[in-house]
Amino acid sequence: MTYRPNEPFNDLPPLPPSFDLESAVIFKKVLAASRSLAELKGLYETLPDPRLLINTVVLQESRDSSAIENIVTTQDELYLALLEEGASQSGAKEVIRYREAVYAGWEHMQQQQGLLTVNGITRVMQRIKDTQAGIRKQPGTVLKNSVTGAVVFTPPCCEDVILQKLGELERFINEKYENDLDPLIKMALIHYQFETIHPFADGNGRTGRILNVLYLVQQGLLPLPALYLSAYISEYKQDYYRLLREVTEKENWEGWVLFILTAVEETAILTIRKIRAILELKAELFPLIMEEIGNSNAGVILDLLFTPALCED
Ligand SMILES: Nc1ncnc2c1ncn2[C@@H]1O[C@H](COP(=O)(O)OP(=O)(O)OP(=O)(O)O)[C@@H](O)[C@H]1O
Ligand SMILES: [Mg+2]
Repeated sequence: MTYRPNEPFNDLPPLPPSFDLESAVIFKKVLAASRSLAELKGLYETLPDPRLLINTVVLQESRDSSAIENIVTTQDELYLALLEEGASQSGAKEVIRYREAVYAGWEHMQQQQGLLTVNGITRVMQRIKDTQAGIRKQPGTVLKNSVTGAVVFTPPCCEDVILQKLGELERFINEKYENDLDPLIKMALIHYQFETIHPFADGNGRTGRILNVLYLVQQGLLPLPALYLSAYISEYKQDYYRLLREVTEKENWEGWVLFILTAVEETAILTIRKIRAILELKAELFPLIMEEIGNSNAGVILDLLFTPALCED
């Protein structure tokens, strides 16, 4: 496979890759990540009203996910306009839209009997970007390093190629029996493939990260979309960008899959800790609030205290 960063990557092969994805080192990581994720799932299932806590977790993610940008999608003539648009947008609004997009994608998946479709993914992007735009139609989209301006990647072009590749990806996501890859490995493959197709003019990173968590719900690994890798990705974004490139340039699937598995494991552990801390704090506060107001509204007030509010700036 020859690859040149300045030419559209129309040779992107369909999934799964021919690479051996079941090496001992990957297998070990799959076990560790699955164990942590199962523990998180168990914890969610014990919560009386998981949505209350999940709002907090999603909100955190929305902030982190809206802050990754280091590689930007751009068409030269649109570049400045996009930058200006980004600068004038209220951060709080972006965060709210991200959270809405998670729920919109989840709802769409439920309406489609659990299928994650190109339409659903497009809706997620439309919510994030507050736009009616769909798949990229014009040539000229490139990914640039926002600091140096260097082109790091040119995604496939144009609409018919993108639609064909998305169709293949949709089949891979939703197929039940064709291969027996572990769903966490599949999630890593799907994320690479989606980002590399890069179907939209903007918002591909955020949409791809939401696709990850929706896929975990589809696979029954989480009861609701609440595992957010953005903080991890943001912390290790140079590795994230490098590993995406290394799959394209030298088929370093192992490095990429290990990165995503580690992100899942560490994020699940962190989320478990965070939720336990919130639960402990609630348990400590409950008798104090009872003492103050001494009636059955204590529980309601406690929940309100832990319901995240967003202020527009
Ligand atoms: N070499 C690469 N190959 C494929 N995809 C890449 C590469 N480098 C970066 N990406 C993806 O492109 C995303 C950025 O694309 P885009 O600007 O459309 O998304 P965004 O949601 O607006 O931004 P961000 O992800 O930074 O929040 C990155 O988050 C990453 O997922
Ligand atoms: Mg962008």
